[in-house]
Amino acid sequence: MSGAGDEFQVVTRKKWMARKCLSRRNRHKSESDYLNDCPDVNVDNFQTRLERICGEMTQSDYFIVAMETLQQQLDSLKRPLERIVCLGLGPFTRTHQALHQTAFIVSVQRQHNIKEALYYDPVFRDSEKELLQRLNGTVMSEDCAGRHEAEVPTLYYLPHCPYALMHNLLWCNWQRERLPNVLLICNSFEMLTLNRTKNTDDDHINRISEHCSEIALEDDYEQHNVFNDLSLHTFSSDKLPAAEDTVFWTRCSPLKVNEDELIKEVDMAALSIGS
Ligand SMILES: C[S@@+](CC[C@H](N)C(=O)[O-])C[C@H]1O[C@@H](n2cnc3c(N)ncnc32)[C@H](O)[C@@H]1O
Repeated sequence: MSGAGDEFQVVTRKKWMARKCLSRRNRHKSESDYLNDCPDVNVDNFQTRLERICGEMTQSDYFIVAMETLQQQLDSLKRPLERIVCLGLGPFTRTHQALHQTAFIVSVQRQHNIKEALYYDPVFRDSEKELLQRLNGTVMSEDCAGRHEAEVPTLYYLPHCPYALMHNLLWCNWQRERLPNVLLICNSFEMLTLNRTKNTDDDHINRISEHCSEIALEDDYEQHNVFNDLSLHTFSSDKLPAAEDTVFWTRCSPLKVNEDELIKEVDMAALSIGS
């Protein structure tokens, strides 16, 4: 298999399956094998490549419009962004979705001069942790399963993450004065709650969906299946129920992260690290 850090070679899952003599029928079984089998990257070379993608990212219409959308929400909050927390970024030296999402969030950090950018994903390799550190990020040592307190205005970036992570983030900040500090980019709540009914599926995403602002981040990025179906969700106090609404403000239980959900949204056929 070609090296994922090599600028000019493409690793595709198809090539990997051919080398392993695996049929497409067996591809589900071998998803994690594919990711484990990807050779490690040269960190210096990969950093150069990531910097190039960050440069392209900041010029892209997708990034420019997403930044305008974020700024409008910060203007309404009347406070600057102080922290970034990124969960479930994925194996960004091994999949192109995670690679471009990394370029996005690193570019946001630079644009807003954010000192503190925290990352966690159980799949990170040492080389991926080192790259994030070199890019002024901090890899959290513990799995908070989404339970992170927004003490200051914080952009949470959870692209295509398990439902439980978003639910637990809301659970952890389920107070009228705390929720406005949460600015959350993740899969559209509107889509996530489409088939859920208010009474039978009582959870924090379902409960908050009619009290939050959701702005779809239109996906016109040149790489497909990277930023699809993502929205910025904000929770301004004027849309939240009054503090006296104890039914609303009584917390549900946190959710366990469902292992089955972890990779189901990744189109494995599209997995590659070619650009
Ligand atoms: C569907 S993948 C999305 C990966 C990538 N962001 C993408 O869009 O292709 C979900 C990611 O969530 C990560 N994940 C699972 N449990 C997690 C946890 N407790 N905290 C942070 N990330 C977690 C998985 O390892 C996986 O990388």
